[in-house]
Amino acid sequence: MKTHPVKLTWATAAEASGMAMAHAGAFETSWREDEFEDLLEGEGIFGFLAQDEEAPLGVILCRVAADEVEVLTLGVAPPARGRGVARALMAAGLAAARQAGAKTCFLEVAVDNAAAEALYATLGFRRAGHRPSYYDRGPEGLVDAVVMRRDLNEAASSPYPDGGTVEPPVPDRIEKLCVDKGMRMTDQRRVIARVLSQAHDHPDVEELHRRAHAVDPHISIATVYRTVRLFEEAGIITRHDFRDGRSRYEEQPEVHHDHLIDMKTGQVVEFVDAEIEALQEAIAKRLGYRLVDHRLELYGVPVEEN
Ligand SMILES: CC(C)(COP(=O)(O)OP(=O)(O)OC[C@H]1O[C@@H](n2cnc3c(N)ncnc32)[C@H](O)[C@@H]1OP(=O)(O)O)[C@@H](O)C(=O)NCCC(=O)NCCS
Repeated sequence: MKTHPVKLTWATAAEASGMAMAHAGAFETSWREDEFEDLLEGEGIFGFLAQDEEAPLGVILCRVAADEVEVLTLGVAPPARGRGVARALMAAGLAAARQAGAKTCFLEVAVDNAAAEALYATLGFRRAGHRPSYYDRGPEGLVDAVVMRRDLNEAASSPYPDGGTVEPPVPDRIEKLCVDKGMRMTDQRRVIARVLSQAHDHPDVEELHRRAHAVDPHISIATVYRTVRLFEEAGIITRHDFRDGRSRYEEQPEVHHDHLIDMKTGQVVEFVDAEIEALQEAIAKRLGYRLVDHRLELYGVPVEEN
């Protein structure tokens, strides 16, 4: 199936119609365009629309109040599922919430929504409460919700939700790409591919080795070095140099994002900013070019609180 690059746009009233379309694809009971327009005017409310050149694909809406952010809705239209769109929307939403001063994120998910709960668990969310009879499913009756919580200061660093005891789904995206490119997949390469696929940070080779070694103690650091070089040469993963003398790796993203590096802690924050994206395209055009790729790295220190 042919897929097009996915773009995330910061939501304004102009995105309300696309957001309503994406929402209608994702949910049986969906929110209308005028409801999105009204919501976007609400205090502390912001969101992103994911779309490709053909159609709106997904939507996230969040509300920041004091130092907490709540995910009001997140949905991806069925044809676009399984491509990391929800993960990218959550990353953009959480990055924007952090910028707005949020320190904790809360959300609710129906107890029978295994896909959503799995998504949130991979992003570092943990169950924090229970709301009985929370969702009204019409003739099917009421369904309980779980409240999930994540501290936004801590990186979701564990590749596995339960500290290594849960087998990641097989095969992961990187593994599939390797097979598609005709690469021979040994058991050790497969473990390294899975560790990379499950990482939500930007691990260096030593960290990758630590995680892979926890799954298969026979994996040596030399094997990890060779494997990441192989994956990088095949264009399956991307190498970053965040000026700390270590090469860091991430899966070649399907959905573009930029990076901000906290120079005190080394934490890497992913973000997407529609204005910057548009500005870069405009600059390239002004200089007589069509922009095909770019990398933007911001280096900063946390603003001291009074
Ligand atoms: C839940 C939902 C938002 C996921 O969207 P998506 O774009 O397909 O999710 P992603 O591709 O970004 O998946 C990210 C991770 O979530 C988990 N996940 C997503 N769909 C899953 C499924 N059907 N089963 C198990 N895990 C799943 C996986 O861990 C996945 O990582 P992987 O691809 O590396 O295995 C989408 O299925 C949806 O819109 N559902 C209907 C609306 C809804 O339930 N919204 C959430 C309300 S709380």
